[in-house]
Amino acid sequence: MKIAMVGSGYVGLVSGACFADFGHDVVCIDKDQSKIDRLHDGIMPIYEPGLDALVDANVKAGRLSFTTDLGEGIEGAKAIFIAVGTPSRRGDGHADLTFVHEVAREVGKNLANDAVIVTKSTVPVGTGDEVERIIADAGTKHRFAVVSNPEFLREGAAIGDFKRPDRIVIGTEDDFGREIMTEVYRPLYLNESPILFTSRRSSELIKYAANAFLATKITFINEMADLCEKVGGNVQDVARGIGMDGRIGPKFLNAGPGYGGSCFPKDTLALLKTAEDYDSPVRIIEAVVKTNESRKRAMGRKVIDALGGMDAARGKKVALLGLTFKPNTDDMRDSPAIAIAQTLTDAGVNVVAYDPEGMEIAKPLMPEVAMAENSYEAIEGADAVVIVTEWDAFRALDLDRVKELAAAPVLVDLRNIYAPSDVRAKGFDYVSIGRV
Ligand code: UDX
Repeated sequence: MKIAMVGSGYVGLVSGACFADFGHDVVCIDKDQSKIDRLHDGIMPIYEPGLDALVDANVKAGRLSFTTDLGEGIEGAKAIFIAVGTPSRRGDGHADLTFVHEVAREVGKNLANDAVIVTKSTVPVGTGDEVERIIADAGTKHRFAVVSNPEFLREGAAIGDFKRPDRIVIGTEDDFGREIMTEVYRPLYLNESPILFTSRRSSELIKYAANAFLATKITFINEMADLCEKVGGNVQDVARGIGMDGRIGPKFLNAGPGYGGSCFPKDTLALLKTAEDYDSPVRIIEAVVKTNESRKRAMGRKVIDALGGMDAARGKKVALLGLTFKPNTDDMRDSPAIAIAQTLTDAGVNVVAYDPEGMEIAKPLMPEVAMAENSYEAIEGADAVVIVTEWDAFRALDLDRVKELAAAPVLVDLRNIYAPSDVRAKGFDYVSIGRV
């Protein structure tokens, strides 16, 4: 089957490459000429493990191609995916649907055969109806259906998540949409990935509800971690203890510096806006958003406390290890590192950072932070070493060397990747999250 993927960003490119790998004939479309040129040269626009090899293999096999020409790209495609960005709209936090609507108009104008138009972008409830109206208004003579098919992949694990999903959600209002989507996902279906067919609006809401629920789970355990610090508990044991209850589940209970990334912050905010529009408050999510936002700066203050308080911290040097919002990505969007660095520099602390993939993108976001070539260079002369992101490269630091290089043996581990007893045995002041 020919599939067109409009938008060759994170979701579009990963989904397109994976569909091609399953044997479909895929054209990825993007209006950004330089992105398409680079893809032709085998250069990926994002860092995602395994993506370059997957793209390369499928291009060579003749199943994956790239173009800036939407009309040509969608010709003959039975399924046309919309996978463009829906960022937070400046000023009000609503999802900005400019790109989605633009693509819908273009698709409507250029449709040359019967097709299903699939929104893979995260879009607020009711967007499918609007996309349908836009395409119909373009006056197409061809049969079309608009389907919602949200994507649940995680950065850094995107290919695995796409190929072995917990579930595939398809929101469709008619049999044509259902028939084509069954064909699109047949390879995964046969892999026994469950497919949930539902209404378009339910499907659109499922994406937001899933992300908001996960953000809530993280925020919940983060607050339990704070309480553990006060009462003398261990948040990892608490997480394990509650997670063994099948109704709660063990995943997404790692306490840390607060969630970031391209999805949770923007999607929780957009959900709040939808709820406001429909006069149906989601107070739990309101609390989650506020709590997570203030947590990021609170982590900066935690580091200042480890330096001996505001007065003592002024003029001291802190090494930040890890800047991206999570490991195995170069994505800095809403990363806690930004707020942490800001809190520190506001307090007159000199910050030096190292990240395996994120430094280029981080530089303009944190102009007052110096970037080091590697972990040990950052650590040299530091009064405190802070692990912000749990990259594997930070899991086995040579603690003797760290102690030798640093001005003071202070380790603030915001991801709980070290055992307190091990680090303290080496003579460090060790501060972590929810463990005393
Ligand atoms: C998320 C969803 O997981 C995915 O299904 C959706 O499609 C997009 O948003 P992603 O943003 O790539 O994916 O990363 P994820 O691994 O979910 O982590 C999000 C944030 O939560 C990160 O900042 C991470 O550090 C944090 N997190 C995650 C925790 O603090 N604790 C956890 O237990 C899990």
